[in-house]
Amino acid sequence: MRPRMEVALGPLRLRNPVMTASGTCGSGLELAPFADLSRLGAVVGKTVTREPRIGNPPPRTFETAAGMLNSIGLQNPGIDRFLSGVLPEVVASGYPFVANIAGESVEDFAALAARFEAVRGTLPVAGIEANLSCPNVAGGLDFSVDPRRAAEVVGALRRATTLPLLAKLSPNVTDVRPLARACEEAGADAVTLVNTYLGAAVDWRRRKPVFGRVMAGLSGPAIKPLALFQVWRASSAVRIPVVGIGGIMDAGDALEFLCAGARAVQVGTALFRTPTAANDLLDGMERLLEEEGIADVNDLVGTLRPRAEPAP
Ligand code: SIN
Repeated sequence: MRPRMEVALGPLRLRNPVMTASGTCGSGLELAPFADLSRLGAVVGKTVTREPRIGNPPPRTFETAAGMLNSIGLQNPGIDRFLSGVLPEVVASGYPFVANIAGESVEDFAALAARFEAVRGTLPVAGIEANLSCPNVAGGLDFSVDPRRAAEVVGALRRATTLPLLAKLSPNVTDVRPLARACEEAGADAVTLVNTYLGAAVDWRRRKPVFGRVMAGLSGPAIKPLALFQVWRASSAVRIPVVGIGGIMDAGDALEFLCAGARAVQVGTALFRTPTAANDLLDGMERLLEEEGIADVNDLVGTLRPRAEPAP
């Protein structure tokens, strides 16, 4: 029998736990010719900011041994053009869409959420994911390394909207648990982790960094074990759901994240290689759960059993 796949991120009900990761498929319209996005739990859009951003100068991506580095710099058309020129098409397309937003200040975040709240009657989004953790713009990590600042943003967002609210956190901290707790206490419905790990690439012959800012964000299979650990750690510290992300390439990876405590997963880098990766992964999850006799995907969430400590 096909397993039940519906999951809930607080008030956000998803038909299954498979989401696309922000920044990996635009608003979804770019991916729609290749994959049926209406089958997914949700598409998370590229970050939108108050003003348009042209992003960082090229090169912006670099392939590594087991992943990729990016330094896009939050290129996006800005909220006005997004609401008038992109969101209507997204809503007409009918797939569940979570808007991802970022700002340079608490006010920026709140103003962006208020814009989505204001068009809720005509252009509804399923939820808002606050990008507190972009490593590729000045100050992009500020809200994700200090629990008080994370709470300020999430608190302001909570006051600005009743839409389901996810806070996307950085792994570039000593301990992600205080950040996740701060978001929970400030009113987030879920936390998403992890954003990319800080990394660099070097052109040694030219004695130059590949990226203008030297640092970039590492994603892909290289970070999967690191991300799995962060998800396990955070999910043991909060009661709100955790959305796991980081190097998920296939159904087995996704099920590992659920076992480690994630209620849903996001697929990112895999989409650059295979545009149908999220759909393929969903099919594979259903098959593996059925083979394992798991009737409801929720029954797997957080079932990781740490081995007993070896006897002294
Ligand atoms: C970028 O636009 O630079 C990537 C976004 C992110 O890592 O949050």
